[in-house]
Amino acid sequence: MLDRIKSLHDEIACITAANKDEAEELRIKYLSKKGLVSKLFDEFKNVPVEQKKAVGAAINELKNFATEKINGLKEAFQSGHSGAEGLDLTLPGDSISLGSRHPLSIVRNEIIRIFSRLGFVVSEGPEIEDDWHVFSALNFAPEHPARDMQDTFFIEKDPDVLLRTHTSSVQVRVMEKTQPPIRAIFPGRVFRNEAISYRAHCIFHQVEGLYVDENVSFADLKQTLLFFSRELFGEKTEIRLRPSYFPFTEPSAEMDVSCSICGGKGCNVCKHTGWLEIMGCGMVDPNVLDLCGIDSKKYTGFAFGMGIERIAMLKYGVKDLRLFFENDVRFLNQFQSAL
Ligand code: PHE
Repeated sequence: MLDRIKSLHDEIACITAANKDEAEELRIKYLSKKGLVSKLFDEFKNVPVEQKKAVGAAINELKNFATEKINGLKEAFQSGHSGAEGLDLTLPGDSISLGSRHPLSIVRNEIIRIFSRLGFVVSEGPEIEDDWHVFSALNFAPEHPARDMQDTFFIEKDPDVLLRTHTSSVQVRVMEKTQPPIRAIFPGRVFRNEAISYRAHCIFHQVEGLYVDENVSFADLKQTLLFFSRELFGEKTEIRLRPSYFPFTEPSAEMDVSCSICGGKGCNVCKHTGWLEIMGCGMVDPNVLDLCGIDSKKYTGFAFGMGIERIAMLKYGVKDLRLFFENDVRFLNQFQSAL
């Protein structure tokens, strides 16, 4: 009897089925009431008492083995993982979806590309700075409110270690190290102690520009910014400069571009003025040149600084600045660019 069980075990170990029906036939052959395994149970009563224990265990084991094996064959067809059946080797593979560049990187790269055509090179400076590079060398008065803890993130006091509040600190670093001609832009992250809202964030991005040489004039500044604005927003774009104040430029101005959404006619984005404020700029204050080791009697220069978020918002019609920092792929996927 044990030999028969063993050979039946070997037989079942080798069974295969090409489809569901064949698997069902195997079930009937081995496991139905009249099947080969069930028959062993019928014969069990004739087994001598002293063998009953061993034979009983062997039959049970065989039944479990056969049930598992045949169920396995059936399941393979149900879930479709039957090997060759249903497999089409000519189907194209799953495509790999490419990521997209962050909209702030796209805009930053575009700004860099435009200025590089005018001969500006790119430099970078540290985000963790000291009072000298962020404020003092830029002509900020000792009691200037920008130095306040309400505006600036301090890491340490006395001596001050702080997060830069603007990329103008890189102007100082470059002028301290290089004699004119200097023509460079400085992209980077800046930090201000501001409550986060749809139009403000405690971290944002700027691109600063600096041009120092003999005979650099306000007209050069204006022409550079007009070229830049038309490249970025379209050839019909006009610019306007409004008097302003920065401690490190004199004279200083805010630059507006004609609204690229309504073409200057007035809309919600430009608050019906036809103009959008884009950047601060001005002639480098002679004090700043001298503090950085550049002879202000021989050289003049201009500087400008713009926020990348603001330009990206205008360019892409984004109404909430926080979207740039949340990294929601549904937002980011919408920006495909070669830049
Ligand atoms: N640093 C100024 C700001 O953050 C911008 C600016 C840069 C103004 C260079 C003039 C010249 O607002």
